[in-house]
Amino acid sequence: MNYSVSDVLISAEQIAEKVRKLGEDIGRDYDGQDLMVIGILKGAVIFLSDLVRAIPATVEVSLDFMAVSSYGDSTKTSGIVRIVKDLDSSIKGRNILLVEDIVDTGLTLAYLVKLMHEREPRSLQICALLDKEERRRVHVPIRYRGFSIPDTFVVGYGLDYSGKWRGYPDIRTVEAAD
Ligand code: IMP
Ligand code: MG
Repeated sequence: MNYSVSDVLISAEQIAEKVRKLGEDIGRDYDGQDLMVIGILKGAVIFLSDLVRAIPATVEVSLDFMAVSSYGDSTKTSGIVRIVKDLDSSIKGRNILLVEDIVDTGLTLAYLVKLMHEREPRSLQICALLDKEERRRVHVPIRYRGFSIPDTFVVGYGLDYSGKWRGYPDIRTVEAAD
């Protein structure tokens, strides 16, 4: 099956407005504190780069990244996650904000949250741009959520289909072309 990029689901303006709001909320909650923002590669990179610029300078932000891949084929999430790239720094005693592009079944983040807790951070919260709630299989506590979306595959603003279409400035649906 061939797929092509279809309708705009969330515009660049809507994203920018939401990112501003999330930055404000995070700024209020961590005012005067340190915050280590951890991006889950690669999908979260574009969102994260806008988000950290929306967090006021009264929060001392640092960055780190983690890359994961699910075991098994791409259509069935196993919930077992392989760390492809681990963090460069220790999170022990730090305030951590995990930034994800989208929460689908929740299995990836549930695994990461468990792993992170074992490393004894001071606090751990999740920020996700998109939430496909209908698809959730395990509970994930999303403290900062951008948009709830229906059960449809989306690309753009960092999200990909088979490595493609991350560069769109907005969020678009994907449809079968033939
Ligand atoms: P989960 O473990 O099922 O929550 O998987 C979440 C991961 O699946 C995200 O980090 C994305 O990499 C990927 N994913 C889920 N839905 C979509 C989508 O609609 N577009 C692009 N990637 C998606
Ligand atoms: Mg991802």
